[in-house]
Order: sequence, then structure tokens, then C-alpha cells
Amino acid sequence: MPKLELRLLTDSFSDSLLIEEYTKAGGFAALKKAVAMRSEDVIAEISKAKLLGRGGAAYPAGKKWEQLLRIEETPKYIVCNADEGEPGTFKDRLIMEKLPYKLLEGIIIAGFVFRAKAGYIYVRGEYRKIQKRLVEAIKNLHEAGYLGENILGTGYDFDINVISGAGAYVCGENSAVLNSTEGKVGRPRIKPPHLAEVGLFLKPTLVNNVESFANVPLIVNMGGDAYLEAGHPDSGGTKLVCLSGHCKNRGVFEIPLGKVSLRDAICNSELGGGMAEGKKLKFFHLGGQSGPIGSQAQLDTVYSYTDLRKAGLAVGSGAIVVMDESVSILEYLKEVTGFFIHESCGKCVPCREGNRQLLKYLQMLSMPGAATIGDLNTLRSLVRTMSDASFCGLGQTAATALNSAWKLFKSEFEANVRPDGGANER
Ligand SMILES: Cc1cc2nc3c(=O)[nH]c(=O)nc-3n(C[C@H](O)[C@H](O)[C@H](O)COP(=O)(O)O)c2cc1C
Ligand code: SF4
Repeated sequence: MPKLELRLLTDSFSDSLLIEEYTKAGGFAALKKAVAMRSEDVIAEISKAKLLGRGGAAYPAGKKWEQLLRIEETPKYIVCNADEGEPGTFKDRLIMEKLPYKLLEGIIIAGFVFRAKAGYIYVRGEYRKIQKRLVEAIKNLHEAGYLGENILGTGYDFDINVISGAGAYVCGENSAVLNSTEGKVGRPRIKPPHLAEVGLFLKPTLVNNVESFANVPLIVNMGGDAYLEAGHPDSGGTKLVCLSGHCKNRGVFEIPLGKVSLRDAICNSELGGGMAEGKKLKFFHLGGQSGPIGSQAQLDTVYSYTDLRKAGLAVGSGAIVVMDESVSILEYLKEVTGFFIHESCGKCVPCREGNRQLLKYLQMLSMPGAATIGDLNTLRSLVRTMSDASFCGLGQTAATALNSAWKLFKSEFEANVRPDGGANER
């Protein structure tokens, strides 16, 4: 039986902001090690570790860092994406609350690697207390010589600023984070140019998620090979998963990638603990509202980026929303679509109008005889158009849940449909 939990991050959770406590527990050993290394060598460890971005898109962190290092233009900026807007996701908040120095250490290491001018943490607007806590932690680091001028006597100057979001989900998209940080409307930018070339203030920029940065000191300390070993051969280390919904135990759990199945995550007593109130599991929704839905039959899939992808699922942000047999899939999807209607920034038609149309068809499918087979076909083609033609990831993934649920619960979609009527009837 594999070890279900592997505590690389969560083991050092603390409520204290005392720097001495953090250093006593091994804090800043990685920073001290990194400042004595060449930038290429720090990045080589991250590449060996196969750290995949923990914000949702799973882009290899080593590759992103290599790309930025190759760019000669200066100044460079480091941006930490702490928007955490994906429903069902609440793990970055825990890192910022319980492990702020680990996150800040990861950002300072990145700053040093790129000799960046400054760092920014873009924090979800609702996390007011956390923003204050980070500001206090940053002040403490200045006093202790880990931030500010001549960090650790290296001659390198670096500072970190906390920026507050204002509650828009789309502002978590990496280019929208930058626009919002610059004080502009938080809408996504067209890419390319990529952010490594034209990022914050149009300068080369690294954007990584909170959990990604918090893993950097671990990798520098353990070495890339040991970190890889702790996880899956394609993606090292652990993942913080957020269990919510109808499982017995809800909260954040740290699991080793590739060594635990979805069944373990949801049902094992050390993790999700199985279904509450003795009901049966109907489906689970992975990676947030923009992620795919899975069913009972996929429970034995190993929780790794590779295995989940092969099964048509995804790690995404790490959210696992568990739903029992009492939940109607159409009702659930209406809620998901309502979220995207609310959060669409309105810049492009496939997302702005597409989400409203999705909801209209889902409502028709819920009413006996209101929808035809033709409507169902129109819904299916709408899903394809939105995913192909939307400007940013929000619209491209807004119908992912619907698309995966369609394959699993076709009979529920068809239950109320009239057999007559063509695609262009209405
Ligand atoms: C609509 C939308 C919202 C997003 N929200 C977040 C978020 O809240 N936090 C986050 O880290 N990444 C979010 N992302 C992903 C970011 O664009 C980006 O991939 C990530 O910050 C990169 O960091 P990583 O490589 O360390 O994961 C979002 C993407 C989209 C399309
Ligand atoms: S897909 Fe288009 S409308 Fe939707 S959030 Fe992105 S840019 Fe805005």
C-alpha cells in the first residue's frame, strides 16, 4: 500500500511569522544554496524535478524558467499568481497563511536567478487578511536582510510588492494578472508575444502560481532527482488537492503525484473518507469549474498529470468536487455555466454569447418536450465553437465540464428531448 500523504509542504505549516522559527526549521537554506549557484544550475534542478505549473495549465516550470533566462532584455519581473479564483480551489490560501516564508523564499530565489528588478504577488481581492499577513512577512524579511538592498551580502537588490485583485476570475489568467497589476482593466492580452518576452510593463516576466513557487525551495534543498522520485516520472513531487462537496472529509490534502488513485483520494479514510450520509458517488469534477467531470468507472485512475490526461481528466488547479447520486447533472452544469456567464469579461463573442446560449439549451433540456434532437446537436456544435474560437482560456474551457458530462450521462441529456425537430427549428 503506497503512502497516501506525503508531507513536503504541509509538514512545515506554522501560524508563526517569526523568521527565527522558519530558519530553525530549515528555512532560507535553499536561498543560501541558490545564491552560491549559477542560474543555469538552479534551473537545471527545476527541470530535473519535472515541476509542472500548479496553477492549472501544467506548463513545465523548468522550461518556462529556461525561456526567460535566454532573454537578454532587462529589467525582468517576477509575478506570483495568487488570484485563486477557480471555484473549489483553496490551497494557495493555505500556503500564504501557513507557509508565507516558503512562498517568499521561492520568489526571492526566482528573483536572484533572473537578477529581476522586482517581484509582485497578485492576491485574490477577497483574501484581505492574507494580503496583510504577506505585507507583514515582507517587512520582517527586509529587517532580516532577505529582501531589500544587498540581499545576503550578494550585492543583489530585490523587493516584493503585494497587489490586490478585485474579485474577477478572468484576472487569474496570466496576461490579465499583468494588466491588472499595471492598474489597467484585467482583460487577457493576445499571445504571442509571450510573457517571457513582453510581460509586466512590457518587460520580460516570469509568472508562476503560489504552489509552484513554494515548491522551488524544496527542489533546491532536495535536488531535482529526489523531488522527481517523490512523485511521478513525468511530474515530480506532491500536489495539494482540495476536496469538497459530498465526501466525508473536506479540505486540503497533500498527495504524492502518481502514487495514489482517485479512489484513494476520495474514499480513503486518511483523505476524502468516502461519501457522506451513506450515499453513492455519482461524479467528481476535477481542477475547478473549467475542468472535466469523471464518474465511478474512472475512480481507479492514478492521480498524476499523465494518467488523468489519458483518461480524459485533468489535475488542473487540484480541486476535486465530489457529488453524490442526489445531484442532477443538468442542474449542476447550469450552475457551472452561470458562473462563466458571470465571469466572462465580454471581450469576445464565442464566450460572451456562447455561455448564455449554453444555459438556454441546458434549461430547455431540463423541461419535458422543450428541446429536440436538433437542439442537442446545436448544443454540441456550440461547445466546439466556444473551445476553438474563444480568445482566452476562460471561454476555451467553459464547456469542458459539459463536454465530459455529455459522454458519461448521455441518457440524462436525452431524457426530456422530443425525437422530432431539426437543428434549425428555432
Ligand atoms: C480564466 C483563467 C483563470 C486563471 N486563474 C488562475 C489563478 O487564479 N491562479 C493561477 O495560478 N493560475 C490561474 N490561471 C492560469 C494562469 O494563466 C497561468 O497558467 C499560471 O498562473 C501559470 O503559473 P504556473 O505555471 O506556475 O501554473 C488561470 C487561467 C485562466 C485562463
Ligand atoms: S474568452 Fe473572451 S470574453 Fe471570455 S473571458 Fe476570455 S477574452 Fe473575455
